[in-house]
Amino acid sequence: MERNDAVMPTVAIVVAAMMFILLLFMFNKDTAPTPVVVDPKLSASIASEWPTVGNKVFHGQQNAAVNCSGCHGANGEGGVGPKLAGNADILSNPAIIVTTVQKGKGSMPAFGGVLKDNEIYAVANYVANSFGNKAKELVTPALLADNVGKVGPEVLRERSRFVPEEIILPEIFLVTFVVLLLTYGLIGLYSNWAEGAELHPGIHKVRASTMSMTAMVLALAGVLLFSVLFVRQILTSIAGMNANTPVPPQVTSEGFYAAMIVLLLALVLGLYKKYFMDGEVVVEDASGEFPW
Ligand code: HEC
Repeated sequence: MERNDAVMPTVAIVVAAMMFILLLFMFNKDTAPTPVVVDPKLSASIASEWPTVGNKVFHGQQNAAVNCSGCHGANGEGGVGPKLAGNADILSNPAIIVTTVQKGKGSMPAFGGVLKDNEIYAVANYVANSFGNKAKELVTPALLADNVGKVGPEVLRERSRFVPEEIILPEIFLVTFVVLLLTYGLIGLYSNWAEGAELHPGIHKVRASTMSMTAMVLALAGVLLFSVLFVRQILTSIAGMNANTPVPPQVTSEGFYAAMIVLLLALVLGLYKKYFMDGEVVVEDASGEFPW
């Protein structure tokens, strides 16, 4: 008797693969950090020109369309915008001035297209070293590049350990859908393999062989190996997050190890059912729409 669910698993897996490729593009677009171009000429001029150019930009004398002092006060004392003198955010990470000016923040407009790059770095260094502020190092493209991908300790403590922060809700729905289709396909493929593409109703005696024994032992060893790796990685991550300077957890390794454990356990179950357990195919199975 021909199974009526013999093709569906393959279709489901192909669809899942296509959606996954689609997802890859979405993820790339949304998550890739804006690359910082480190221009040596620009970096070299920042040190000499920031005191003059930065001062002019800040007070609206370089470009009439940009006047930081109008919102932040002539001495960085604050106004419509927050106080920049002694500002803890700036003191701890002066590179945020560059990104704030480039991209804007809240009701502060973005000046990325209005100011030239050298003007942005000049005003950033001016703010970082005026009104009593003093930066440990010059704000340069290299410093900014260094900051891309770095996560502050507060963000680190609050964010989910298992979902990378860049992933947004629609992506989670799509991933769930892909995983569902893939699972459906895999279960179908398994059932075709375990019970045969044609159903033979009746009792099936097991046929364990040296091959199946070896496969079983290897799969079990794999489960053990990845369990050890997983626990070790989790302990490392916990230690990293509680350290004085917290280190982001290695979510990718953790996820990979966990996935390997689950996959190998599924393999163990599959092998057990096919080679170590007497099975019975009931005739009703053949008319079922779903492979399980
Ligand atoms: C139209 C008013 C306005 C102008 C002009 C303006 N800002 Fe702002 N700025 C703000 C406001 C409002 C915020 C707070 C945004 C928020 O946190 O939501 C802010 C935030 C900032 C921050 C972040 C402070 C923090 O604690 O995180 C920096 C740095 C900054 N501005 C620098 C500048 C510089 C440099 C310029 C000039 C190139 C400038 N701003 C021009 C209104 C302005």
